[in-house]
Amino acid sequence: MTTVMDLQRFKAERRRFAMLTAYDYPTARMAEEAGIPVLLVGDSLGNVVLGYPTTVFVTLEDVLHHARAVARGASSALLVGDLPFMSYQPSLERAITSAGRLVQEGGMHAVKLEGAGPSLEVVRRLTQIGIPVMAHLGLTPQSVHALGGFRVQARTEEAAERLLQDACELEAAGAFSLVLEAVPAEVAERVTAALRIPTIGIGAGPHCDGQVLVAHDLLGLTRGRTPRFVKRYADLGDQAVEAMRAFAREVAEGTFPGPEHSYRGDAGGRGDGGG
Ligand code: KIV
Repeated sequence: MTTVMDLQRFKAERRRFAMLTAYDYPTARMAEEAGIPVLLVGDSLGNVVLGYPTTVFVTLEDVLHHARAVARGASSALLVGDLPFMSYQPSLERAITSAGRLVQEGGMHAVKLEGAGPSLEVVRRLTQIGIPVMAHLGLTPQSVHALGGFRVQARTEEAAERLLQDACELEAAGAFSLVLEAVPAEVAERVTAALRIPTIGIGAGPHCDGQVLVAHDLLGLTRGRTPRFVKRYADLGDQAVEAMRAFAREVAEGTFPGPEHSYRGDAGGRGDGGG
């Protein structure tokens, strides 16, 4: 089983690793088969599977619901649950309760939260009580309204310096890894070189210790535009539409179900239980 210590070791050994989002049981099982070492039940589930325009609508109950499904499908990956907007910002007590629920009820091994500044105390306390924390800097979607939209961050020298400073403070507070989202590759390279903990990039160039993608983007299941940094490794969305179209056509034509899909008194069904 992958642990937070393994990620530190990967960095020390200069071994790059992949993290993938997962929001459900089948994706967790497939990611395990593929040997993905870290699964993130990201609050991106708000955009990706719940249809919200931003992640600020996602609740702790939403993440818990998906976390439990992922935990049932995964047995060896390190499972990281995102703390959604307003589940850790109001108070330290709220943050501890929310993180504790992700571990105790959601089956997560670690939590992720966004930003530095006020989040530092949260990172410190969660780490002290034994809940590992993955930090997240750069484009932090929970602050989309303050950032003025989904745009590349740390583009000036001053902003890059601030990000580096924040990263060092998060490491000192106890974060075991750091997601860098939508920052110039040179900035991610500087941060990666300065930290002992691994950086995990998304839209942050090739120099991070790990890379993360949203599963639906990688699989081509996202309908509509995806960010420039996404690489589509498959076109399952188009294949799904084709399959659904074929099903509808065959039903209309009366060619499905054919004799091979109809019972003739013999049992046999899905899984173990028939049906
Ligand atoms: O919520 C999420 O999926 C994330 C990743 C994109 C890093 O935060």
